[in-house]
Amino acid sequence: MDEKKRKPDLGLLRLVAPYLRAHKPLIAVSVFALLAGHFFSLSLPFLTRHAVDVDIKGGDPAGLGRTAFLFGGALLLGFAFTAGSNLGVSYLGQRLLYALRLDVLRKVFRLPSGYFDRTSTGTVLTHLTNDVEAVRQFVSEGLVTVAGDLILAAFVFAAMFAVNWRLALATAVSVPLFLLATALFRKAIRTGFRRVRAANSEINTALVESLGGHSVISLFRHRTPAIRHFDGRNREYLDAYRQVVDAYAAYFPVIEVVTHLSLALVLAVAHFRMGAAVKPGEVFALFALINMFFRPLRDLAENFNTFQSALAALERIDRLMGEPEPIADPPRPRLPGRAPGGEIRFERVSFSYLPGKPVLRDLSFSVRPGEKVAVVGATGAGKSTLAHLVPRLYDVDAGSVSVDGIDVREWPLAGLRERLAVVPQNVFLFTGSAADNIRLFAPEVGRQAVVEAARAVNAHGFIERLPKGYDENVLEEGMSLSTGQKQLLAFARAFVAKPSLLILDEATASIDSETEALIEKSLDRLLEGRTAILIAHRLSTIRRVDRILVLHQGRLVQEGSHEVLLKQDGLYRQLYEMQALALA
Ligand SMILES: Nc1ncnc2c1ncn2[C@@H]1O[C@H](COP(=O)(O)OP(=O)(O)OP(=O)(O)O)[C@@H](O)[C@H]1O
Ligand SMILES: [Mg+2]
Repeated sequence: MDEKKRKPDLGLLRLVAPYLRAHKPLIAVSVFALLAGHFFSLSLPFLTRHAVDVDIKGGDPAGLGRTAFLFGGALLLGFAFTAGSNLGVSYLGQRLLYALRLDVLRKVFRLPSGYFDRTSTGTVLTHLTNDVEAVRQFVSEGLVTVAGDLILAAFVFAAMFAVNWRLALATAVSVPLFLLATALFRKAIRTGFRRVRAANSEINTALVESLGGHSVISLFRHRTPAIRHFDGRNREYLDAYRQVVDAYAAYFPVIEVVTHLSLALVLAVAHFRMGAAVKPGEVFALFALINMFFRPLRDLAENFNTFQSALAALERIDRLMGEPEPIADPPRPRLPGRAPGGEIRFERVSFSYLPGKPVLRDLSFSVRPGEKVAVVGATGAGKSTLAHLVPRLYDVDAGSVSVDGIDVREWPLAGLRERLAVVPQNVFLFTGSAADNIRLFAPEVGRQAVVEAARAVNAHGFIERLPKGYDENVLEEGMSLSTGQKQLLAFARAFVAKPSLLILDEATASIDSETEALIEKSLDRLLEGRTAILIAHRLSTIRRVDRILVLHQGRLVQEGSHEVLLKQDGLYRQLYEMQALALA
C-alpha cells in the first residue's frame, strides 16, 4: 500500500478537531486534572528528601509525622486527580468514537453505487470498525496522554536538577542507551502493526465473503480451499502480532535495565561525593524521580505507535470522507407539477460502469403516462442497468433520462425516488419482521397500510401462515422465504410506496406454476394505473404490456407488440425460439 511510503500528514488532525471542540469543558477539566495529578506525584520525592535530610537527620519525630501526613495526602490527591483525568479522557474517546462512526456511516450512505463496485465490503467495514477505533485510541490514549507524558518528563527532568545537578547529570549518561533501545523498538512495532492492520483488513474481507458466499462454498465443495485461504490471512495476523509481542518483550526489560543503571550511577556518584555535595535525602529523592522519568518516556515510545496508526487511519477516513458524491440533490432542483404524471424518457443515453466498456449505447425510447412497456434481451444486454439509471443509482455518461419532462439530475433526489418504485432482480431482506420489511421501517406506515398492501399483491396469505404472522422475523434462523415469497414481499413494498412509476426487474429464477399464477395476479394489481417498465423474462409478463423493447448489447434493436415482433425475423424471435424467455 502507498501508506508505507507516504508520511502521514499532521494536518489530518483537523478531522478530529470538530469533535474535540464539542467537548471543550471536558478537555479542560481532564487536562487540569492531569496536571494536578502530576503536581502531587512530583511533590512526593521532595517530601521524601525533606523527611530524610531535615526531619530524620534533625531528630524531629513530630516533623516527620507532619511530613508523612503530607506525603499521604499528596499520594491520595495525586491518585484522585489522575483517576479523574483518565476517566475524562476515556469518556472523551468514547464520545468521539460514537460521533465519528455515525458520520462515517452517513457518508457511506451518500456514496454512489459505483464506489461499492470498486471497494470491497471488507474495506468499508474496516473503516467503520478498526479505523474509527484507532482514532478513538489516539484521542484517549494518545493525544492527552502524550501531551501529559511530555510535560511530566520535562517536569521530572527539571526536578532532578533541582534536587542535585551532579546526580542528575549521572543519570543523563544512560539516556543514549534508552534512545537506542527505543529507536529499535519503534521500528519493530511500526512494521509489526502495519502488517497486523493489513492482515486484519484481509481477514475482514475473507470473512465477509465466506459468510455471504456460504452456500456457494458448501455446494461447490470449496470449503477446504476457503479455509486454507482464510488460514493464510489468519496466520499472517498471528505472525505479525508475534513481531509486535517480541518487540515489547525485549523492550520493557531493557528499559528496566536502563532505569537501574541510572540508579547505580547515582549511587556511584554519591559514593565519591558523599558528604561534600550529596545528602542521603537527595539520593532517595533521585531514586524516586528516576523511576518517574523513564516511565513517561517509555509510554511515549509506545504511544508513538498509536499516534502513527491513528494518523494512517485518519488518512483512510479522510479519503473516504472526501469521496465525491456525484449523485446528490442539484443546487437548484426543478420541482415537478402536482399531477402524478408518470412519463419516462431516455434520450440518446450512453452509459458505462467502467471507462471504455460501454453498457448502454445511444439508447432512446419513451414511456407514456400509464403505459406498460417490457424490456427483453439476452443476459448482460443492459436491462438491469437501464433500471438503475431512472432512480439515479448511477448517472448517464451522455444523453439524458427524464421523468415527467424533467431530467432526473434536476429532480430533488428524494422527490424522484418517492415518485418511483423499483422492484429489483434480487430482493434484499432486512433483519426484522415481515411488516417491517414491507414498510422498510418507515414509522409513518401503519399496520393497516401494510396489511392492505400485502392483500393487494397476494402476500397476505403466506405471511398470515407464518408462525407469528406479520411479526415473524423473516431472517431468523431456519426462517427464510422462498424466491416467490420474496418477490411478493417486494411487490408489497412497492405497493406501500404508492409510486406513479414502477420498474420491475423480474427475477430470472424459475418458480413453481402455482406461485407464478399468484405473482401474475399480484402484478395486475401492482400495475393498475401506473406507468411501468417491466424487465421481463416470462412470456406471461410480456403478454400484459403495451409495447416491447428488445435490447441487444446496450442498443435498442426492435420495438413493438409480441405478435408484431414474432412476425419479424429478428432477435425477438430468436430469443423466443431459444426459450431465453421462459415460456410458462
Ligand atoms: N456494477 C457493475 N460494475 C461493472 N459492470 C457491471 C456492473 N453491473 C453490470 N455490469 C455489466 O454491465 C453489463 C450489463 O449488465 P446488466 O446487469 O444490465 O445485464 P442484464 O441485461 O440485466 O442481464 P440479466 O438478464 O442477466 O439480468 C454486463 O456486461 C455486466 O457485466
Ligand atoms: Mg439484470
